[in-house]
Formats: sequence, C-alpha cells, structure tokens
Amino acid sequence: MAAGLTIVRKSDRREHIGKKATTLDLLVQQGAFDVTRQHIPAGKYFYLDAASDWEGFEFIYVLSGVLRITDDDVLLHVGDYIYHHGLSQRAHFQVEQDVELLLISSPPSFHLMRDEIQEILELARSVEEKDEETEGHCHRLERLAIATGEKVNLNGDQLITLSYAAYLHDVGKVKVPDEILNKPGPLTDEEWVEMRRHPEYGARMLEGKEFLRDAAKVVRAHHERYDGSGYPRGLAGDDIPIEARIIAVVDAYDAMVSDRPYRKALSKETAIAELKKNAGSQFDPQVVRAFLRVVNVSGGDPDVA
Ligand SMILES: [Fe+2]
Ligand SMILES: [Fe+2]
Repeated sequence: MAAGLTIVRKSDRREHIGKKATTLDLLVQQGAFDVTRQHIPAGKYFYLDAASDWEGFEFIYVLSGVLRITDDDVLLHVGDYIYHHGLSQRAHFQVEQDVELLLISSPPSFHLMRDEIQEILELARSVEEKDEETEGHCHRLERLAIATGEKVNLNGDQLITLSYAAYLHDVGKVKVPDEILNKPGPLTDEEWVEMRRHPEYGARMLEGKEFLRDAAKVVRAHHERYDGSGYPRGLAGDDIPIEARIIAVVDAYDAMVSDRPYRKALSKETAIAELKKNAGSQFDPQVVRAFLRVVNVSGGDPDVA
C-alpha cells in the first residue's frame, strides 16, 4: 500500500451520534479540519451561522436527497455543493427529501454539533423516563408544531426555536416529584402549585445554554392562555411568543387524541371541536386555523373566530 495513505473502513467508523433520524458521523479530524457525514430526514430545518470576520471555511456536498436554501428558495440536488469563507448573514436550510451531506469545515465544527444534539437528547430522555405519558409525544409535537409554524409564516430562526421548544416543552417535569407527576388520582391544590412550576423549571434548565435561550422563553410560556388566564405569568395575546401559542395548540391536541391512564383517547373530530371552541380564549385563533389546515380539516374553517 502507498506509504502514508490511511484507509478507514465503514466498519471502524469514528464517532457517531444520532437524534432519532438525524445522524452525524465524524469521518476524519485532522488539525484544524474535520470531515463529517450527516443524514437529516425530510422536513428538518438547520442553519449555518453568520461569522463575517471568520477565517474559516465550510463546504457542504449533497451525496443524496434534496436540500432547499430557504432564504433564496434554491434547491440543491445530488452532486451540488456549497462553500463559504464566513457568512454575513445566517443561511437557512430545509430538507426537502432525506439528505446525506458531506461536510468539511475548518475550524472543526463537529463537536459543537455533537454537544448540541447530545444535550437535547439527554434532557428529553430524562423526561421520558419520568413521565410515561410523554412517550413519543415530544416528536409528534415537534413535527406538528413545525408544520403549523410554516403555515403562519414563521422565519427560519423561529422554526428552529420552535422545534427545540416543542421537543423540550415539558423538560421541567424532571424537577417535579414523582408522586405528583404520576399520581393516579386528582392532584391537591398544593400539588397543582408544584406541577405548574414545570414551565419555569424547564426555562431555567435551558436558558443557561446559548443556543437554547430563545427556546427557554417559549418553554416558560407554553401554558399561557390567549386570554391571559394561563400560567406562570398570565401573559395574553401577542405578549405570548408565537412559538408558545403554537405549542399550546398542538400539545392540547396531541394530549386529547392520546390514551391516558384515566381515559381513552378522544376522536380527532372531538379534539378539533374542542380546539375550535377554545379559539380566542385558551388558544390564538390564527394558530388554531393554521393547525386545522395541518391536520387536514375541510377548507376554510369559517367557524373559528
Ligand atoms: Fe407542559
Ligand atoms: Fe406536552
């Protein structure tokens, strides 16, 4: 074999991380460079951060699938590639069809990406372990929330905040005692006080991390109600972040159509009727209308105020 040539077989791949369908493989890290392969499922959003005084270099090659640059509405197909030496503005991407990307970056970015993904994984896992009701709930919520966010024309940053916040909305429940969280009967007044602290607990867990700071605000507000009767702060209308107004709707819907220890799942029709009934009081009517289009309810929805 040629002197100095390193061959790495697929079977001894280096580091590998995954968040459900998103996976990241570090292929090579050498000096100031790293080369990673990333698989991202359709529907996901991500961005490349702005860094105008950056000395670095970032290169992305599409191995398979289709990627959209949402800022310019340009599609990238197999064999297309992009690169830059520092962006003056954040660039946003949406995965149109599952993509495999080859990324080369200097300075190395793999560990940044890995830390973000792992922190989220750990937080979310810690809730799922404590609260059986959330099994699968976080992922369904993230998907429904993003689809609703697109309908109300959120921008790329907002969609990313929404996706983190939807996934982590109940993460503060890890700090609520088990006896309360999994109590079979109704909660006492004092127990409700504790239960209702979970948005604040969650926000505090997230706000220490720079990339989750916006999501923390949304998590804090996910039980606020449009008419101001929610908690923890009694915010109303547009004072509630739009991402939180979206999570309130999709969270309520998903809870209604899921089985609970004390009741069977409600039908989709019943759940939708409930959302419509509470549009304008509990929920933002604009968000309810957008959500109904997502769950494919017959056109117009004229009966939602
Ligand atoms: Fe919650
Ligand atoms: Fe929830």
